[in-house]
Amino acid sequence: MSGRTRDCSDTLEPEMTPAEQAFLRDLIRRENFSGTHLEIGTAAGGSLCSMMSCFHDDARPRFVVVDRMNYFPRQKDIVCQNLEQHGLSPAAVDFRESSSATAFHAAAAQQERFDFMLIDACHKILAVMADLRWMRLLNVGGIACFHDYATKFPGVKLSVDRLLARYNNYEIVGQADSLLAIRKTAICRSGEISLADNAYGMAMVIPLTIERKLKKWNLRKSA
Ligand SMILES: C[S@@+](CC[C@H](N)C(=O)[O-])C[C@H]1O[C@@H](n2cnc3c(N)ncnc32)[C@H](O)[C@@H]1O
Repeated sequence: MSGRTRDCSDTLEPEMTPAEQAFLRDLIRRENFSGTHLEIGTAAGGSLCSMMSCFHDDARPRFVVVDRMNYFPRQKDIVCQNLEQHGLSPAAVDFRESSSATAFHAAAAQQERFDFMLIDACHKILAVMADLRWMRLLNVGGIACFHDYATKFPGVKLSVDRLLARYNNYEIVGQADSLLAIRKTAICRSGEISLADNAYGMAMVIPLTIERKLKKWNLRKSA
């Protein structure tokens, strides 16, 4: 359990800018998917509440949340409190309290499919590469959103850019600040994220670690 506190554990707000939140809500309302919605990485559930509130109670699709629930103390309780404060029942959410990798294997074994995904968990390159395997479970026509798609988070940026460059079954729907939305246009028979993609991720770990340490060091020097 992380002892670290996060602002969102007090504010219960999404860890997103106002422009990102508005973009996400507009997208969910416009697409109005009836299939399962998935959030990987929920923090205090701010974006979850915002997404679920886009639907009337009697027309809301299933929501699945995957999170290790150790982002701050009592994370799961706080997410449930947030849902209740929004008039949403925690029982309506299918919580999978595990790592994204473990949850992916279980979902793939059950041949689950999703219409909408918000991917916003660990931003390190190998973790994001692993998260991209969830794209195999996205329905054709479905949308995946990636938060922190920005040069400040090279693990997210490089992985998603590689997906878009190497898999031609995706098109960009739009972007607000660091929230990117892409649509799946066809099935990829070989399955998203190959051994070569993982090898690329591994090759980038050391350069990205050095870059991160240098940035920290420069910041400390200039403080
Ligand atoms: C940046 S926060 C998510 C913010 C949230 N989507 C929002 O908009 O408010 C990252 C979340 O991902 C979770 N997380 C990080 N790595 C994970 C992993 N490998 N598997 C599952 N959850 C993970 C953390 O516990 C945390 O709740």
